[in-house]
Amino acid sequence: MVIVAPSLLAADFGHLKQQIELVDKAGAQWLHFDIMDGHFVPNLSYGADLVRQMRSYTKMFFDVHLMVQEPMNFLPMFDNCGADMITVHYEACSDLNAVIGYIKDRHLKIGISLKPKTNPEVLAPFLPFIDNILVMTVEPGFGGQSFMSDQLSKIATLKNMSRNYPITIEADGGINTETAPAVVAHGADVLVAGSAVFKSSHPEKIIQKLLHTGEK
Ligand code: DX5
Ligand code: ZN
Repeated sequence: MVIVAPSLLAADFGHLKQQIELVDKAGAQWLHFDIMDGHFVPNLSYGADLVRQMRSYTKMFFDVHLMVQEPMNFLPMFDNCGADMITVHYEACSDLNAVIGYIKDRHLKIGISLKPKTNPEVLAPFLPFIDNILVMTVEPGFGGQSFMSDQLSKIATLKNMSRNYPITIEADGGINTETAPAVVAHGADVLVAGSAVFKSSHPEKIIQKLLHTGEK
């Protein structure tokens, strides 16, 4: 079964508790939080306090995606916020080893994300130290964009590069029931879906369909 990570960015912010309970009950295993700083990406979202508050509503795996420049300056705010994994952008870190060390010292899982134009080979030296690779399948910054199918080969390359490590491959951006089959066929283990889930009139059905992507 595929891991499905609904992105809270597309949820109804007036009813976050109910929205989380809905996706939890529907079988989604991870909850994806998009943290944006207005510098690394041209948008703002929410911060660690929101993650911390949502922690009391569910036992789902909290997947925190930091789209911030120099995450080292923000990481202390995320101490004890209830995150299970923190994913940072390769492009945003002047000292990626220090960032990996900080997150590991807190016994959290660590992911690294790549923007669409970043070469997958840059991750080779870090593979022994990380738990997750997040492949952006849109330019980061906004929900509701169209899936970039030219990222499928990057997913396959990273799946192959990481085959000897216990690393999950996560795809993020423009994932829906139409685009998911190719994403999973190319090696993704985790599907982030914002608009496809929360803008749907039947989110439970979408989650169930995504969970069983690629099954006969
Ligand atoms: C984009 C974010 C995504 C986004 C996905 O910068 O990283 O997680 O919320 O939204 P959809 O599924 O609507 O493309
Ligand atoms: Zn994201």
